[in-house]
Amino acid sequence: MFKPKSIAVIGASKKPGKIGYEIMDNIISYGFNGELYPINLRETEILGKKVYRSISDVPGEVDFAIISIPAKYVLDVFEECGKKGVKCVALITSGFGEVGDFETEHKLVEIAEKYNMPFIGPNIFGIVYAPSRLNASFGPADVKPGKLAFITQSGALGIALMGWTITNKIGLSSIISIGNKAQIGESELLENFLKDDPNTKALLLYIEGLHDGRRSMEVFREVGLKKPIIALKSGRSKRGALAAASHTGSLAGSDKVYSAAFEQVGVLRAIDASEAFDWARCITNNPRPKGKNVVIITNGGGVGVMATDACDDYNLELYNDQEKLKELFFKPEIMPPFGSTKNPVDITGGGGELAYKKAMEAAFAAPEIDAIVVLYCQTATTNPDLLADYIIEVVKKYKKAKPFVIASIGGVAVDEMVDKLNENDIPAYDLPEKAISSLSALYRWSNFVERTTKLGKPNGLKLPLDKIKAIIAKVRKEGRVQMLEHEAKEIFKLCNLHVPNYGLAKTKDKAINIAQKVGFPVVMKIVSEDIIHKSDAGGVFIGIKDLSEVEQTFDKIIENAKAYNPKANIRGVIISHMEPKATEVIIGVTRDPTFGPTVMFGLGGIYVEILKDVVFRVAPFSLEEAQHMIDGIKTRDMLYGARGQKPANIDDLKHAIYVISQLVSQVDDIKELDINPMFAMEDKASVVDARITLTKQK
Ligand code: ACO
Repeated sequence: MFKPKSIAVIGASKKPGKIGYEIMDNIISYGFNGELYPINLRETEILGKKVYRSISDVPGEVDFAIISIPAKYVLDVFEECGKKGVKCVALITSGFGEVGDFETEHKLVEIAEKYNMPFIGPNIFGIVYAPSRLNASFGPADVKPGKLAFITQSGALGIALMGWTITNKIGLSSIISIGNKAQIGESELLENFLKDDPNTKALLLYIEGLHDGRRSMEVFREVGLKKPIIALKSGRSKRGALAAASHTGSLAGSDKVYSAAFEQVGVLRAIDASEAFDWARCITNNPRPKGKNVVIITNGGGVGVMATDACDDYNLELYNDQEKLKELFFKPEIMPPFGSTKNPVDITGGGGELAYKKAMEAAFAAPEIDAIVVLYCQTATTNPDLLADYIIEVVKKYKKAKPFVIASIGGVAVDEMVDKLNENDIPAYDLPEKAISSLSALYRWSNFVERTTKLGKPNGLKLPLDKIKAIIAKVRKEGRVQMLEHEAKEIFKLCNLHVPNYGLAKTKDKAINIAQKVGFPVVMKIVSEDIIHKSDAGGVFIGIKDLSEVEQTFDKIIENAKAYNPKANIRGVIISHMEPKATEVIIGVTRDPTFGPTVMFGLGGIYVEILKDVVFRVAPFSLEEAQHMIDGIKTRDMLYGARGQKPANIDDLKHAIYVISQLVSQVDDIKELDINPMFAMEDKASVVDARITLTKQK
């Protein structure tokens, strides 16, 4: 598909403006130099090429067929392509899965598999691969060749952005429209071609939904270690997600889970198209940074402060060895005596093109500096065009040895300067924040590679699965999916989580006995599958301090439960040791339709209900990832001992999150799980209340 020697366009047309014409025209004008066979039922010649009535009539081999005929004819033509031995197909035609016709789409996949004839589409605008001078699309003709591969699920947006890349001087190795992804989606393209394509350095994916989130994660992780992946995922809002689902008939999983999954596998999620392409510009045209020391060279104080603020926002570190900075930059050819070498290095408003050149050379040559940001405010004393030439010269001289970005602020001459730099593959922006955000995206990717290479794949934790499954089997035997509190706690105990001592009492005598064993104070709760909201039924009592209180409470709980639901099957009262007050956290699990078991973590109570201060990760994950989850909530300081509070035992807490991720990925029966609250105590993380719901019996 990327390097065909011969192409057939089925539905080629002689009429400008028709898709079948535009594709032919693009293939020819972009410089494809293999065989080109237009297929049309009536014409004899299209754009100077001999026309064939059908694919079977083509005399030679066909590597790649582009089909652009109405949907109702596609199945037959597809079969004919298979018989002809066509190697692969791009199916432009709309009117399949996206309008509910999954049956025909499925048949297409069957034919493709029968003939080993992979295809992209349907419902696409085509494919461009600049190194082969292949533009088999009905998008713009003059794509700027470069090192970024752009894969898009949306057709119209893809075409629009294709045009936008041309205007904004963004070079592309390829553009692939994947539409309904009936057979080939982004994962297949990455895995089978783009991962090892020397002409592609980075990837930008426009995604509305993934068919198989887990598989995509595996592919993204593997490819992401070699090449940065930027994702633009629409459907962030609930309404947006619904629109996306109907748009390409894709399953849009919860958007927060998408963000979490992307972060876990190093995919950089951009908020909008402009941010995505800004990042892409920097990432495709720069090497991985070797260290964290960034230097900013500026001719303006204000813009330097703006960039410094942005560095803080995006966690970039400014090199701060003042002695060394002075040694490198405090030179008459770089700055006047009133210039500043405190990073940002301020060559001052009078600093000319040559001063910039010398400063950049010093920064490139210094081993202490790992990344360079240049800021330029247009002044009458400088010539932006000459400055652009100097920048191109210096960056070329140092062979892009370290990441380099520039932000130029000013009028028309500066716009031209930015264009010139971008034409020369030097990432240039019109605002400092964009330059810093883009450099930080490069750093985030680089940190992901470093972290992941060091850690390797997370190991599976050995859990006593036989014992866990035996408990589940007992629940299932009774026809229940809701586990009772003591059953859920039994599972957590088997996973080595700390659960305060407890026991189930069917009689008052047993209750006294258990209370003595677990130690006062105790909590007493009704246990019945028919009473889900235990508090509403008057079935929860806390802070019970002595045996006589245990006796009274036992009677009261049974009495309340019977009054609440006379038919309830009362199994007894659970008596647990009551933990002292501590910061409450919640660990929850749901099964996401796209990504499967997903773990949520946050602070309990109002923090989860009102502030929704929670983070997600797709299970299973490593201990380190669990640590990132803890550090990912806004209220993390509450756990680290803010305002004189005692810090929680973070090791125990992260272990609990990690164990839950392992449990739910090893035990398919668990549909949902909540530890709410878990007490994040100074010495341990304790499962105070828990609930497990099983999947429906198959
Ligand atoms: N073999 C050979 N030629 C054929 C065959 C066949 N079996 N059937 C039809 N043709 C010819 C037609 O005669 C016609 O040629 P002509 O212009 O000389 O008359 C040509 O193929 C095209 O057929 P038409 O019936 O004219 O169909 P039309 O071009 O109007 O539409 C198309 C076909 C473009 C595939 C349309 O059905 C379609 O699906 N359009 C949507 C494409 C799209 O939007 N893709 C999604 C992504 S892009 C985005 O969203 C912006």
